[in-house]
Amino acid sequence: MIFIGSDHGGFDMKESVKLFLTEMGVEFEDMGAYSNDSCDYPDIAEKLAQKVAGSSQKGILICGSGIGMSIAANKVDGIRCALCHDAYTAEYARRHNDANIIAFGGRTTGVEIAKQMVNIFLKTEFEGGRHKRRIDKIKDMEEL
Ligand code: RB5
Repeated sequence: MIFIGSDHGGFDMKESVKLFLTEMGVEFEDMGAYSNDSCDYPDIAEKLAQKVAGSSQKGILICGSGIGMSIAANKVDGIRCALCHDAYTAEYARRHNDANIIAFGGRTTGVEIAKQMVNIFLKTEFEGGRHKRRIDKIKDMEEL
């Protein structure tokens, strides 16, 4: 099970990504938005991030640029939300950063690139090792 959410700026892209997830046989829960009506991305980011934090599940957040969603989601303890733009950033967000949410822009990313990033993000494992030490240092910052 994964969680997917967007604001109005990412709504059309979210619908396309949902079709792709269905084709891939990946179960998901849509956390909204449920229409193109204007809404506030932090509300969706917080709701989705609370579901992902402390679980082993992943999330996908889409706004116009991906920036607002990533900034907001990273305020929630336990979240490592990576703003990605291509296959490389999606792959290394998992391999080196153990990102549990991928964010991207519905207005800045083509739908085929988005599908490629989602596929890579869901299939790539964290490498651990020295990267685990660095992730632990980020975790320590949450406990200040
Ligand atoms: C909404 O117009 C837009 O600001 C939002 O989708 C996002 O891009 C913010 O970072």
